Amino acid sequence: MFAYEMKNANTYNFSSLGELEAIVAREGYDIPISRDTSSLSRTVDIDAGEKVYTLKNSISVHPMEGFDGEEDGSPSDLTRRRYLRFAASGAALLWSEAIAVVPEGRTSDHQLMITPENVDKYAEMIAEVKKITDAPIIAQLTHSGRFSKNKFTPHPIIMQQNTEIEKVRPQDVGTPPVSDEYLDQLHARYAEAAVLAVRAGFDGVDIKICHQYLLSEALSSFLREGKYGGSYENRTRLIKDIFTAVRAYLPKDKILASRFGVSDMLPYPYGYGTDKGDAAKFDLTEAKRLLSELMDEFGLSLIDMTMGSPYIAPHINRPYNKGGYVAPEPPLAGVSRLLSAAKEIKTALQALTVVGTGYSYLRECSPNVASAALDGGYCDVVGFGRMAFAYDTFAKDMLAGKFNSAKTCITCSKCTELMRHGSVTGCPIRDQEIYLPIYRKNVMEADKK
Ligand SMILES: Cc1cc2nc3c(=O)[nH]c(=O)nc-3n(C[C@H](O)[C@H](O)[C@H](O)COP(=O)(O)O)c2cc1C
Ligand code: SF4
Repeated sequence: MFAYEMKNANTYNFSSLGELEAIVAREGYDIPISRDTSSLSRTVDIDAGEKVYTLKNSISVHPMEGFDGEEDGSPSDLTRRRYLRFAASGAALLWSEAIAVVPEGRTSDHQLMITPENVDKYAEMIAEVKKITDAPIIAQLTHSGRFSKNKFTPHPIIMQQNTEIEKVRPQDVGTPPVSDEYLDQLHARYAEAAVLAVRAGFDGVDIKICHQYLLSEALSSFLREGKYGGSYENRTRLIKDIFTAVRAYLPKDKILASRFGVSDMLPYPYGYGTDKGDAAKFDLTEAKRLLSELMDEFGLSLIDMTMGSPYIAPHINRPYNKGGYVAPEPPLAGVSRLLSAAKEIKTALQALTVVGTGYSYLRECSPNVASAALDGGYCDVVGFGRMAFAYDTFAKDMLAGKFNSAKTCITCSKCTELMRHGSVTGCPIRDQEIYLPIYRKNVMEADKK
């Protein structure tokens, strides 16, 4: 590990586009680079069925949770501040963070949750967002499954016992798999949340299927018995039931989307989308099949593509310079994996609008890679997560060719540290006025105790 850290510092880091180009050429990474960033200004159509949404540019904000909702699940002042910043960023597509569909499926008492009682608070927030931007905003609907926690007490809801995950989450050992009867009624909860999201003014809903939350675990339930485990048909049943219910209530002029994990990057039979003989390789056969079915049967028109799980192997979905552990690979290898997987999906499913990921790590070079990725058919829209936390006008500045290296995310993982400490989160580095005092109190002082 230490050897890699040294190698990373000396051999893989870049401080200019020329240095990045040299590393990419030397290592053979699948990372396109262009000096011309004008493709970021391209418009993009999302065909929702009865309405085509035309994005004014090709830049999106990924779903980014702040863990700052009120106990009843409504947005707080900090939540609203975050969405108003995202709205002013210049991005043409906005995505809400994870919003729980049931109380027992929240990651904390501060995760957002939409209910008939608090929907007006969401409507007020979306109305404020819409005063600033005409970018469509998608509501991410989730059940946190294994990572559910209330009143600081974890109460994992798991699809199957999973020794690979239990290596890093020994607290899950012995948890019985959730019953079929519980899963049987979930589709109605998603449909109710989708109806509320539309009432609040969201332009579409995202059925979240990634990062080892409940629906992502459904896909890897190779060892589960009964109608939700084993065969492809059984492992996709819960997802299709939910799509059926949501589709029945979602107006045809609203976008049906998914934050979709194309591979867990965990060994078979504990992970989905992994080469059965080599866990280091992804195999997108099932992801492509499922996405194609969701498009044909339900009108899925947009995905925000991702991989891995932040709880198990965070370097996979957010390559970093500093994290909870020293990543076993150079961060650019992670960027390359994310880009090439997006390209494989986009190439196979041309009618699907694909948001790609992996760009925040590239700091001041991110516009050059993002624009080249659009040109090269890797994706239709480039998504930014941590960059959007850090840099308030990141998209505007990219589009104007004035991207400022002093304002970029530095992938230091302090926002993740806040999250891991059960705190509200944001960027203590670039959004210091709000989040540095919070980081000092909730991380630094807490760690001293
Ligand atoms: C603090 C934090 C909160 C996140 N919350 C969500 C979330 O609510 N839903 C989701 O799908 N992904 C979430 N993610 C993952 C991001 O959407 C994104 O996939 C990841 O940060 C990689 O993109 P980036 O390299 O541009 O940051 C979160 C990531 C971070 C760091
Ligand atoms: S704390 Fe800020 S700079 Fe560090 S990774 Fe998070 S968003 Fe980026």
